[in-house]
Amino acid sequence: MTRVFSGIQPTGEPHIGNYFGAMQNYVKLGEQYGKNALYCIVDLHAPTNPAAYQPELLAERTFEMALANLAVGLDPQQVVFFVQSHIREHSELSWILTLQTPVGELERMTQYKDKAQKLESTPAGLLMYPVLMAADILLYKADTVPVGEDQTQHIELAREIARRFNHTYGPTFPEPKAVYAQDALRIPGVDGQGKMSKSKGESSTLGLFESLDSIWNKLRVAPTDPARVRRTDPGDPEKCLVGDYHKLFSDDQTILEVYDGCRTAGIGCIDCKKRLMVGIERTLVPIQQRGAELRAQPDDVRDALEHGAAQARQIAEPVMDEVRGKVGFLGSRR
Ligand code: TYM
Repeated sequence: MTRVFSGIQPTGEPHIGNYFGAMQNYVKLGEQYGKNALYCIVDLHAPTNPAAYQPELLAERTFEMALANLAVGLDPQQVVFFVQSHIREHSELSWILTLQTPVGELERMTQYKDKAQKLESTPAGLLMYPVLMAADILLYKADTVPVGEDQTQHIELAREIARRFNHTYGPTFPEPKAVYAQDALRIPGVDGQGKMSKSKGESSTLGLFESLDSIWNKLRVAPTDPARVRRTDPGDPEKCLVGDYHKLFSDDQTILEVYDGCRTAGIGCIDCKKRLMVGIERTLVPIQQRGAELRAQPDDVRDALEHGAAQARQIAEPVMDEVRGKVGFLGSRR
């Protein structure tokens, strides 16, 4: 039996990297696996990065991230969709998994190293982040994890953690595998500074709910193939983030025309960007409209999350009972 799990942090406005890299896959796998697809807004993870955490904003951001997933088409009746902190077992399993996880393995995680080096004092929670992530997945005995490429190392560690637990306590957890959206492994930021990322701030991201004017303002000045100094120079669309974005937003005919135009200097970068805006508008306007409808009915979003948590609990509680027994705790008679 396949069981799907994924999580998304409520650390800021969702962007097109989240959408094409992960959220679209949530919807697709949800259609395929129904209640065996679990998706979660991981609010316990969000405060691990002090640079991006503001307590007074967390609840609102959690709500907004839930709303965004519904706006792109996730059906909470079809899948199990919930908030991580509503299921206490995530924290409990995480603790148990930390007991067997060598600190050295955690210190090798590249995302940890990147974030820790920017901080004066590193909270232990930042180091433990990938253990909590493993707990998220293993609590539901999930074997399939739709993510972007940046999560590969964390999923590898989750496999290792599952293997170690099974070795010590007997077969319990499947070893989870990452699955990727093949055309959207790592979407570049619009500032040309590597991966699009919430933590790099708004200059890197094109938000799902961002106004088209604001998107155009960023796109207009976005770097293109540096070999195209003049309008008459031919370019390589494979080396251009606008070329990457066309593959996500534009129809086949447009892609063919702008790629050919770039290589033959038949189209200038500004015109190429304008054609991209057509696809961006076609994709984002319906999402933004659906978002506005949901924002007018906040109780519907909250109800969907409550309903999802009740279903998640039904899976999590017996798994946690099994784990407590295997680890050797004296069971409670509650
Ligand atoms: P987060 O919140 O940073 O991102 C959510 C998802 O979006 C993907 N993504 C991208 N994909 C392609 N190109 C990009 N530029 C891009 N930026 C983000 C991420 O890979 C991710 O799939 N640690 C996770 C959250 C998490 C989790 C889990 C995921 C917690 N527990 C259990 C899977 C299973 C994270 O920070 O995602």
